[in-house]
Amino acid sequence: MPAAVVVGAQWGDEGKGKVVDLYSEGADVVVRFAGGANAGHTLVLGDQKLVTHLVPSGVLHPGTLCVLGAGMVIDLETLTDEIAECRERGLLAAEDLLISERAQLILPYHRDLEAIRESGRHAIGTTRRGIGPAYESKAARTGIRPADLSRPQILRERIDQNLDQLAPLFAAHDIEVPDDEKRSRLVERLLTIAAPLLPSVGNAGRRVADEIAAGKNVLFEGAQGALLDVDHGTYPFVTSSTTTAAGACSGTGVGPTAIGKVIGISKTYCTRVGAGPFPTEMDEEVQKVWREAGGEYGATTGRPRRCGWLDLAALKTAVRINGMTSLALTKLDVLSGRGPIHVGVGYETDDGVMDELPVHVGGLKPVLRELPGWDDDLRGVRDVSKLPVAARAYIDTISDHLGVPVGLVSVGPGRSETIVLERLFS
Ligand code: IMP
Repeated sequence: MPAAVVVGAQWGDEGKGKVVDLYSEGADVVVRFAGGANAGHTLVLGDQKLVTHLVPSGVLHPGTLCVLGAGMVIDLETLTDEIAECRERGLLAAEDLLISERAQLILPYHRDLEAIRESGRHAIGTTRRGIGPAYESKAARTGIRPADLSRPQILRERIDQNLDQLAPLFAAHDIEVPDDEKRSRLVERLLTIAAPLLPSVGNAGRRVADEIAAGKNVLFEGAQGALLDVDHGTYPFVTSSTTTAAGACSGTGVGPTAIGKVIGISKTYCTRVGAGPFPTEMDEEVQKVWREAGGEYGATTGRPRRCGWLDLAALKTAVRINGMTSLALTKLDVLSGRGPIHVGVGYETDDGVMDELPVHVGGLKPVLRELPGWDDDLRGVRDVSKLPVAARAYIDTISDHLGVPVGLVSVGPGRSETIVLERLFS
C-alpha cells in the first residue's frame, strides 16, 4: 500500500486538522514532516476542542504511531505542554510517539532573532514562533537536533557558537546576550525538559520506511499550505520550509516512490494570515461577514484571517507543485446564504490572462467569474446528490477547472459533518 500525503493547497488554515483526523482513521502511522508550532490544527472531539501545533492529527486514534519528522523545527517546551494535554485526555501513549533524531530544535535565541527580523518595515507577519530563524540555523549548519540532547558538551558548544555569532546583532537591538551562567542554565533546562522525551527520539526515517515496506497504512500530514512553500510560494511572504508533497519525502527520510496519493485540501473560499499578496481578497466590509461566518481567526496566534474568493489559478499552481491526485474541499457550509459566489479563474496582464500564479504576485488583478449561491443549510448533508444544485455545480466547476477529482467535502466542523467520496485506506 503506497503512502498518502495530505497537504494544504492554499495559504494554510484549510481545515487540515479535521481532514487528516478523518483520513488517519485507517492509518497505522501519521507523520508531520515540516514546520513547527507555526501550525495549529483544531481537532473537534465531541463537544471538546484540541488544538495541536506539533503532534500529528493522528493523535486522536490510539495505537496510531505519531511521528515528528526530520524536516520539522521543534520547540521542546511547546511539545512537552502538548503531550501533557494529550495525555490528560488519554491520548498519545509513549509507544505512539516518535521524534526524529534529525529534526531541528527551536531555542529562545531564535525567537529573539525573529523579533528583530519582524520589527522593521520588512516584516512579513510571521507567527513569531522562531520558525524562520531555526531553519536559518539548520542551513547555516549550527542547528541543534534531538540527537544532541544527551550530549551536554555538544549542546553547550553549539549554544556558544550561535550566541557568539548573534551577539553583535542582539547588542545593536538592545537584546540581552546570555552570559556564561545563563548559557549553563539553558543547557540544564534543555537536559531537564528533554529527559522524558529521549525514549521517544529515534531514527524516524528508517522506522517509517520499514512500516511502508511492511504494507502498513502511512499518512503524511502537511503543515501550512502550498502557497507558503519556501521555493514555490508567494516569496518572500512564505514560511521557511517545503510545504508541498515532495517535502514529505525529504522531511521524513523516504523516497518519492513511497508516495501513491496526494490529497490537497482547499477551503471553498480563501484566507490568508500575515502580510503578502492576495489577488482575490474581498473588500474589507465583505471580509468581515465571511470572517464571522467562517470563524476565521488563527488557531495559533488568534489573528483575524484575511478573506477572499476561491482562487482557481492559485489552486492550479498548487495542483502542479504537489502532483495532486484528489482534492478535499472544506467549509462548503459557510457559503450558504452568502449570495452569489465569485471565483478567480486567472489574472489580467498586458499579455492576456495568466492561468497560474506568476513569480511576482503583487498588484495582480484577478479575473472573477460569478456563480449562483444557495441558502440551504448543508450541515446535515452526507451525500453529494443531496446538495443543492448550485452547490454541486460549484464543486464541479472547481474539479473541472483543475482536472482533479474531489474526494471529500466538509460541511461542518464535526467529524461526521463530511461527505466522503473517496476512502484513503480501506
Ligand atoms: P512563519 O511560518 O511563522 O515564519 O510565518 C511565515 C508566514 O507563514 C506568515 O505569513 C504566517 O502567517 C504564515 N503561516 C505560518 N504558519 C501558518 C499556518 O499554519 N497557517 C497559516 N499561515 C501560516
